[in-house]
Amino acid sequence: MAAAFDREEYHVDASIARALTLPPAAFVDPAFLDLELRTIFRSSWLLVPDRTAAEMRDDPRSLADLVSRRGARAPVSLLDAPLFLQRDWEGGLRAFPNVCTHAWHTLVQGPDRARTITCPQHGRQFDAHGRFVTQPGFEDCPGFPGERDHLQPFEVAEWSKLLFACLGKPAVSFDDALGPVRASLGRLPLDALQRQPLAGEVRELDGNWKQHAWNYMDKFHIPFIHRKPGGLADALELSSYQTEIHGEAALQWAYAKDPAHGFDPALLPDRFRDARGRRVFALWWLVFPNLALNFYPWGLSVNVYMPVPGKPRRTLFLWYHHAWDREKYAQRESVWMNTDVDLEDVDAMTQVGRGVASGFAPRGRFAPREEEGPHWLHRRIYERTLGG
Ligand code: FES
Ligand SMILES: [Fe+2]
Repeated sequence: MAAAFDREEYHVDASIARALTLPPAAFVDPAFLDLELRTIFRSSWLLVPDRTAAEMRDDPRSLADLVSRRGARAPVSLLDAPLFLQRDWEGGLRAFPNVCTHAWHTLVQGPDRARTITCPQHGRQFDAHGRFVTQPGFEDCPGFPGERDHLQPFEVAEWSKLLFACLGKPAVSFDDALGPVRASLGRLPLDALQRQPLAGEVRELDGNWKQHAWNYMDKFHIPFIHRKPGGLADALELSSYQTEIHGEAALQWAYAKDPAHGFDPALLPDRFRDARGRRVFALWWLVFPNLALNFYPWGLSVNVYMPVPGKPRRTLFLWYHHAWDREKYAQRESVWMNTDVDLEDVDAMTQVGRGVASGFAPRGRFAPREEEGPHWLHRRIYERTLGG
């Protein structure tokens, strides 16, 4: 049953100077998480989680590699929902519920490649477009097969080595969501990206998924939380730090203190050129609601803040590295203490999580010049849950 929410209690004003943050209840109330899962997470493009490093030890292929051949398919799980990805025989990528239309057995048990999908329970067969093909025993059923006997497709998209699906009707097209990201990447060698499996790519962390996305959008905390010598605040020209809002996505970027740690300006669009020769340290994109794409001179670090259904105070944190420059990738910890910075954020989120749940947390305000990113995120969450 739909819980009733008082819209006023959750309202985030379009004006940053006037706006209050979302209330603490939005971060701890299971009913609000359910609402988000039914609204935001059914109308947004979500990254389909890649295979884990442990899975890749046995078979080094990434998920994108696994479904690259025509006819190939693989089971995946998105927000606890069982899906499978299918490369059809014409080369298109498709996604379907991994649930048989007869009596709901799991259809695809593991990576596979064959003309038809055969359900292990009673042998119903489907083609690579999810259409029912045959099943003995239904010869005398009028009107069979009907529309409900075919698998109902989800919308999917692929970009570089990343695969996306939408669990409902997308609020915006994939091109509208990801277009600004692509336009910012100039001539970076995306085709050369190679997945670098690491331990700890999947962790369940304290804190609601929004806390982590908020923290990601929060440049205000960098000189405080990441002030350790050799850390993030030291690596950046903080005065150059910018937040740009681009509809479904938001970009943060800054120049590096040491030009050796920045991008080759010839690879990025002209708008990032600096008359003083400074170089861009990173392009940090948040694609609403929960995908962070972090571009560095060595390649791409992907973070996903995945809600855990039923557990509003926990987040499944996914972290994948894809490198196009293996040498620079190997030295990334010497540029700034990537792992330390991650741990500083994890600790901060644990503390904020305690504050959120304390019963003492009032709704906050946003510092207009510092917190455009957090305000954009809160406002968008309000609009996509209760504001419509
Ligand atoms: S559940 Fe698939 S054929 Fe019966
Ligand atoms: Fe941080």
